[in-house]
Amino acid sequence: MIVFDKVWFSYGINHVLKDISFTVSENERVAILGESGEGKTTILKLILGLIRPDAGKIIIDGEDITNKTEDELREVRMKFSIVFQEGALFDSLNVKENVAFCLREYSKLSEDEIDHKVRELLRIVGVEHAIELMPDELSGGMHRRVAIARSLAACEPKMFLYDEATTGLDPVNADIICKLILDLSKNGRGLILVTHKIFDAVKIAERFMFLKDGIILFDGDKEELVHSTVSEIQIYLNEVSLSCKANKSGG
Ligand SMILES: Nc1ncnc2c1ncn2[C@@H]1O[C@H](COP(=O)(O)OP(=O)(O)OP(=O)(O)O)[C@@H](O)[C@H]1O
Ligand SMILES: [Mg+2]
Repeated sequence: MIVFDKVWFSYGINHVLKDISFTVSENERVAILGESGEGKTTILKLILGLIRPDAGKIIIDGEDITNKTEDELREVRMKFSIVFQEGALFDSLNVKENVAFCLREYSKLSEDEIDHKVRELLRIVGVEHAIELMPDELSGGMHRRVAIARSLAACEPKMFLYDEATTGLDPVNADIICKLILDLSKNGRGLILVTHKIFDAVKIAERFMFLKDGIILFDGDKEELVHSTVSEIQIYLNEVSLSCKANKSGG
């Protein structure tokens, strides 16, 4: 469904992506790993056509989106549900209005239908009780769950895109979000999870890409990841084995 064909992207003289090629099919669960600033969010923005590559092609569902107009890109974006890394909620709107925002924007539902739909989505992510709260009254975990509910509101997405969905959360809430993400993909809808938290990535994804210095240093399944000899990946894996040991010694 998503094809990157020799994609180059720079911010000025900062060459973020250098000749990146990969294909992700609609039902795959992919984690894109890499350190801060390696271009993970940039890849998601390119998929949505929020920025355009300097060279190469991006093909979504067989269509080259590289030169599409804003109107045409709207249709492309409807195929995805996205939870952005930052500022996922509008500060001045309460939880209900945050989730309802996309429904008002993209659907022709009545006020009653919107109310019903918002409650249903909040129930799915387990924060229905917070419907009247303002974003600054939510904990980090609740905030993330409302953001996921909001991302589900706009459409019936073919795929989910998550940018650092669990970053900044305590382990319990991170685990709740991981389970929620997996649950939403239960019926075979794929996802791309962008993260530097390998521990959460291995809970969710079945394929792993590792981004480093503008190229994909690694692309493989869990088995291949665990046995990778790439030194950067081993540093990440040490983190996982350390936390496994800590779990074991903790009970
Ligand atoms: N709007 C922008 N203008 C200029 N440079 C940018 C812009 N957005 C990102 N960059 C730069 O592009 C590079 C890649 O950024 P990107 O946000 O894709 O990284 P990331 O892998 O998502 O990092 P993080 O893990 O910190 O979220 C970084 O060097 C960043 O400073
Ligand atoms: Mg990022």
